Amino acid sequence: MADSGSHRQTASTTQFTELTLLYQFSNTLLSTIRLNKLTHLILTALTSGNPLLFDRAMLFLRNEKTNSLQGMLGVQQDSTTNLHIIDDQDYLSCRWDINDDVIVRQRASEFCALVHATRIDTDEDCPVVKRVIVEQKLYHTENSGCHECSSCTFIKHLGVITFAAAPLVSRGRSIGIIIVDNPVSGRPIGGDDLHFLRLFANQAGMAIENSMLYNRIEEAHSSLRDARERLDHGERLAAIGEMAANLAHELKNPLISIGGFAGRLLKVLTEGSRERQYADTIIKEVCRLEKMLSDILAFSRKPTICYNHCSLAEILKDCFETCAATMEDNNIRFNQDLGGALWPLLGDAHQLKQVFLNLILNACEAMPNGGFLSVCATRSTLDKPTVTICIKDTGGGIPSDMLSQIFSPFFTTKLHGTGLGLAIVNRIVINHNGSITASNEANGAVFTVNLPLVE
Ligand SMILES: Nc1ncnc2c1ncn2[C@@H]1O[C@H](COP(=O)(O)OP(=O)(O)OP(=O)(O)O)[C@@H](O)[C@H]1O
Ligand SMILES: [Mg+2]
Repeated sequence: MADSGSHRQTASTTQFTELTLLYQFSNTLLSTIRLNKLTHLILTALTSGNPLLFDRAMLFLRNEKTNSLQGMLGVQQDSTTNLHIIDDQDYLSCRWDINDDVIVRQRASEFCALVHATRIDTDEDCPVVKRVIVEQKLYHTENSGCHECSSCTFIKHLGVITFAAAPLVSRGRSIGIIIVDNPVSGRPIGGDDLHFLRLFANQAGMAIENSMLYNRIEEAHSSLRDARERLDHGERLAAIGEMAANLAHELKNPLISIGGFAGRLLKVLTEGSRERQYADTIIKEVCRLEKMLSDILAFSRKPTICYNHCSLAEILKDCFETCAATMEDNNIRFNQDLGGALWPLLGDAHQLKQVFLNLILNACEAMPNGGFLSVCATRSTLDKPTVTICIKDTGGGIPSDMLSQIFSPFFTTKLHGTGLGLAIVNRIVINHNGSITASNEANGAVFTVNLPLVE
């Protein structure tokens, strides 16, 4: 009688210890949502808890896209106390915690690096993967034929010999696996150990899944916040753009009057007089302001394209005529090869002229002391019929750190530039389903425009 009484007492003490441990473990897992800390807490509880359960513990998470188990963390027992108990007076809120320096130390260990470098293909015919991931059951080398499997990844990569593995299951899905073994103490993994492992793994699976979900929500929240900020910024820019367009429109009429009256004055003022020079400066500055205002208006206007069959060769020739005086003044030699420009193009001739005028003028402005300009158009039919127009100069090129910015509105390196030329060019080319790139070659810049041809 006395014997059966003490047996009952031992059984209930074991049950109490078991329940307390589980309660502590569950409180611990609820105390953090950070996946990194959570995985350390789980494996440290298995290797440094009281009572001591295992010498080493490894965690693998499943990647369903690549059909693999990726090693995330490996922790082994050491002489230091890695877990400390918080609120040990109260069973209901008692939990373990881990310091950040322990986390760093565990991450830096050779064993952790080994686990991290291990990836197991879940398609492989591995008895461990089959039992743990597919059947969602505990695996223990002693009751299975793992040793018969000579190419076992676990034995080969991790050096485990006698080990147990438990599935991490959440909402019916296997999300990973925990592997434990005792290579240092050589203690056999008993029935109680396996029982604990199963209970721990059940709770750990749900906690890890919650943490991953929380991380995903955080990421989604932060990208939503970024999108909102970009939208606000865009709205503010749009308001500024509308204001600038209105202002540009209002300024145009008085400018026309100023330019017109300055022109009339010029005619009546004596040749060579100071007053005539002043009137001349007014006219030049008015012209510059007019160009700036029409660029701003062109950029802020909603893009509308008037599609027509047009001849690229004629558009380019028009541009050369417009720029002929500037080229002569700047002592720029010029070469053209318009063989590929003879095919018809569907586009807006006026806007396309703006594209090539801006590119040729930029090239001229890059060569104030003379140089060589070459414009060539070639046709390709590789993918779909396309014409490629290359505009090359010998003006020294574009500094490489500026290459990514030159198409941005208002980017300029010129004293009197608006920085809208290439932004307008880029927009027109894209609206024509084309593309434009800038690069440097030899001693100058190269702008390459691709435009689709009529099939
Ligand atoms: N052919 C080129 N060679 C060297 N730099 C160039 C060339 N074309 C453009 N750039 C650089 O790109 C910048 C932007 O050119 P973009 O045409 O947009 O504006 P901009 O010429 O400065 O002013 P504007 O609005 O009057 O055209 C220029 O300021 C210049 O630094
Ligand atoms: Mg320009």
